[in-house]
Amino acid sequence: MTNNNQVNRSKRRFLIATTTAVGAVATVASAVPFVVSMMPSQRALAGGAPVEVDISKIEAGAKLDVEWQGKVVWIINRTKEMLDTLPTLRDRLVDPDSDVAQEPKYCKNLTRSIKPQYLIVVGICTHLGCSPTFRKEEGAVDLGAGWPGGFFCPCHGSRFDLAGRVFKGVPAPTNLVVPPHKYLSDSKILIGEDTEGA
Ligand code: FES
Repeated sequence: MTNNNQVNRSKRRFLIATTTAVGAVATVASAVPFVVSMMPSQRALAGGAPVEVDISKIEAGAKLDVEWQGKVVWIINRTKEMLDTLPTLRDRLVDPDSDVAQEPKYCKNLTRSIKPQYLIVVGICTHLGCSPTFRKEEGAVDLGAGWPGGFFCPCHGSRFDLAGRVFKGVPAPTNLVVPPHKYLSDSKILIGEDTEGA
């Protein structure tokens, strides 16, 4: 009989195929016969092991989903046009300067990121924990005049911009959470660990 949990776990493994639990990598060289134990297990991911991600294949304007600590983390390769919307929204946002600490200090800036091009954010709404949808095109959903694209939580209508900052007049109280992370190279990031402290 098919076990739904097993099916879901298999799907998740597929979705995070480009990720690697760092703790698991360290065991590869010395424990070749124990192949199964070297896999980046769900237990390791749920337990908070940092996750290494290759970001080189994310197309301009696209989003990649990865799993870290049992949560979905989005990585968005923002175009210049997307970044250009950020300074225009101040008056429409609850916390445009990220004064409520929802990100590490090194991401307390306009783009809420280390490199402006890449937004790395936990894809969980700060209202009741639903996962918003990525609506990058203006007019992709009827959200009134001037919707510049971002993230829309359909269950209660919260909206976030392309830096994960929450709009005024919606139930979500704070910006989306930026997890600790660092760049290992131009094409690799590590989610769940940094060098500067949160
Ligand atoms: S959980 Fe997102 S608006 Fe309610």
